[in-house]
Amino acid sequence: MNALKAAAPRARGKLLDVGCGDKQFENIFRPYVNEYLGVEYSVTFSGTAAKFGMSCPDCFYDGHRLPFADESFDTVLNIQVLEHTPHPFQLVAEMARVLKKNGVLILSAPFSFRLHEEPHDYFRYTPHGLRQMCKNVNLVTDEVQQVGSLWSLIGHKLNSYLTLHVARMGAAAQQLGKFGHEAPDQPPARLWTLPLIAPFVLAIATGARVMDRLFFEPQEAFGFVIIASRIAADSNVE
Ligand SMILES: C[S@@+](CC[C@H](N)C(=O)[O-])C[C@H]1O[C@@H](n2cnc3c(N)ncnc32)[C@H](O)[C@@H]1O
Repeated sequence: MNALKAAAPRARGKLLDVGCGDKQFENIFRPYVNEYLGVEYSVTFSGTAAKFGMSCPDCFYDGHRLPFADESFDTVLNIQVLEHTPHPFQLVAEMARVLKKNGVLILSAPFSFRLHEEPHDYFRYTPHGLRQMCKNVNLVTDEVQQVGSLWSLIGHKLNSYLTLHVARMGAAAQQLGKFGHEAPDQPPARLWTLPLIAPFVLAIATGARVMDRLFFEPQEAFGFVIIASRIAADSNVE
């Protein structure tokens, strides 16, 4: 979230959110753009609880060719989507195609995250892989932001286990408009476990945050946010 907030001022003009889900980050980017359009792949979207969300996609496509002309957007946003397509290189090429020259791609992808939206969960990404994917389609990487480190990663995994598997709070979270990217058929909550696990969840989250500050580990992360710009096809991308 912080990395996206830091990236948001790079957004401008007409923005396309590819794989927008229920547009949970629109409020972060809205202040910087004139137009905010969300597109979804109908097959994967229909398997998520985002279809019941407050915001919905503006249009759907076939998962191969984005339904827009070349060079039609100033900004393309792609948040936690690249792991869900079996054709990630094709998706990055499509996003580059619809970007205007000097347009900006803001992409966030996981490096270590539990399986989700199964069976449509195919890949995890390193910053080097993301850079290379951008380079292949004439996008120059301006910035790579690491999201999380060793301790927040461990803390998140422990807390996910406690809240999702022990207390089974997935369905309750979806009723509150969160967790839209997961399937809607979450098991019923075990509310009686909450008083038992809440102190642990709090302590783990706080401890992880402190440890990340004190002992930041650059080789472990949840994922990365990459900001890349489109340059003319005949320019040299380094
Ligand atoms: C983890 S959710 C993220 C949703 C949203 N970007 C967010 O951060 O809340 C992944 C989304 O990617 C969508 N998706 C999967 N394959 C896609 C594709 N080829 N093109 C566009 N969206 C896709 C899914 O339908 C799903 O809504």
